[in-house]
Amino acid sequence: MPERIAVIGMGYVGLVNAAHFAAEGHEVTGVEINPQRLAGLQNGEIGFYEPGLAEVVAAAQRAGRLTFTGDAAEGVRESRMVFLAVGTPKAANGRVDLSQIERAARDVGGAIAPGTIVVIRSTVPTQTAARVQSIIRDLRGEQFPVAVVSHPEFLQQGSALWGMAHPDRIVVGGDDPMALDRIAGLYHGTQCAVIKTNHQTASMIKYLSNAFLAAKVSFANEMAKLCDALGVDFLEAMRGVGLDRRIGTDFFAPGPGFGGSCFPKDVAGLVAMGDETGVDLVLMKSVLRTNHRQPRYVYRKIRSQVGPVRGKVITLLGLSFKANTDDVRESPALDVARILLSEGAVVRAYDPVAEDRSRTVLPAVRYSSDVYGAATGADAVVVCTEWEEFRTLDLDRLSKVMAVPVLIDARNIINPVDALHHAFRYSGIGRGSDWHGTLDDGPAEDRQSGRGAEIERLEESAARGRTGDGP
Ligand code: UGA
Repeated sequence: MPERIAVIGMGYVGLVNAAHFAAEGHEVTGVEINPQRLAGLQNGEIGFYEPGLAEVVAAAQRAGRLTFTGDAAEGVRESRMVFLAVGTPKAANGRVDLSQIERAARDVGGAIAPGTIVVIRSTVPTQTAARVQSIIRDLRGEQFPVAVVSHPEFLQQGSALWGMAHPDRIVVGGDDPMALDRIAGLYHGTQCAVIKTNHQTASMIKYLSNAFLAAKVSFANEMAKLCDALGVDFLEAMRGVGLDRRIGTDFFAPGPGFGGSCFPKDVAGLVAMGDETGVDLVLMKSVLRTNHRQPRYVYRKIRSQVGPVRGKVITLLGLSFKANTDDVRESPALDVARILLSEGAVVRAYDPVAEDRSRTVLPAVRYSSDVYGAATGADAVVVCTEWEEFRTLDLDRLSKVMAVPVLIDARNIINPVDALHHAFRYSGIGRGSDWHGTLDDGPAEDRQSGRGAEIERLEESAARGRTGDGP
């Protein structure tokens, strides 16, 4: 049955939810208090890059099922479900800043009709639902009938609409079973498991999921370093590890470190919760520390290939924190750029969609509108984001435009054998394939003698990767 839904906050999570529910046939009002952003949405500009989203939003607007307003009271008055999808950024000491949630609760609390379900969709600590409930009751009285449901999302930027339609699980927390059923009912078309629980557990499921995934990435990054030092191909080793069903292969791709608006904030949030309750989360602190070091590891790879970077031209391919998004928040690519700039390098960059956002935070980088323009005259090219177009680079053309053919593949997306065949000096993360001894050796020598054996070994490893059964 179509529902009337209001979504507060038309950022990434809110807009994806609003668009999805409208596309499913519900009547959705998106509330956005930023006047500029609101005007953009009303004119059909979604304001960020998320594959497929602009089209779904436009179709829902045309069908009259998705409208936008800046007035929360007006937006929620007719709605029977109100989703709070505002930001919960990192405050001092890693704690979670709940001011936007509190404001949203006040804005909607004064206007909702009796019996409305208020859904907390943002990532929030365990006591937040109680806080939202008490804000609403302070405004409307103890007896005012309202149900609050904690309903964390598990969407990944870059494939968020797909994630809405194909969730692994639906989590709804609260103490009103009918409200939980109604929110879970929004996903009746999906076959996934529904977890009905209390508020605290629902909140914690989200934090624990992100913390565990972040820990997997830091595990991969740390072990990839060890594999580099020992001359072992981490990807090949993980193929053997991941076949253990208890372990699996997802989220073990080593790279420049995890970024974005979620993992860094949520792991820091958990650490702060631990500190506040006297639980020292040593493992989570290490996850962050390992991650913090990773961009410098990429820098050391660059330095080991080109020597001191002062005055050298280093080209970064990819600036967003991962592919298929223009989000550069906590992007490790920008950290690599910052280190290079501080060491006196000339940093050039190309990203298919993240240039504008990157430019506002890193104006010192020289931006180009295509790969080969960015790489012309470069002393090294560094792949920082796993964009599809970097998987199929014209290596011949690339090596010809560069001053020195050095390729640092911080995402392991280029076949090392192809790179070597095009006379590149290639370095991945954890490929055990640095030609030139340990990373601290300084500038590389061209050890032609080792090349044949290295190519053979890499060819073997790459062939395995191509069969699709690698990690
Ligand atoms: C993450 C979670 O995966 C979502 O389930 C969750 O809903 C979301 O946070 C959130 O809290 O809202 P997202 O931040 O979009 O999603 O990105 P991920 O795909 O999880 O990647 C996070 C970071 O880890 C990226 O920088 C990515 O490049 C890195 N990563 C991921 C690796 O370096 N290696 C991997 O194997 C996987």
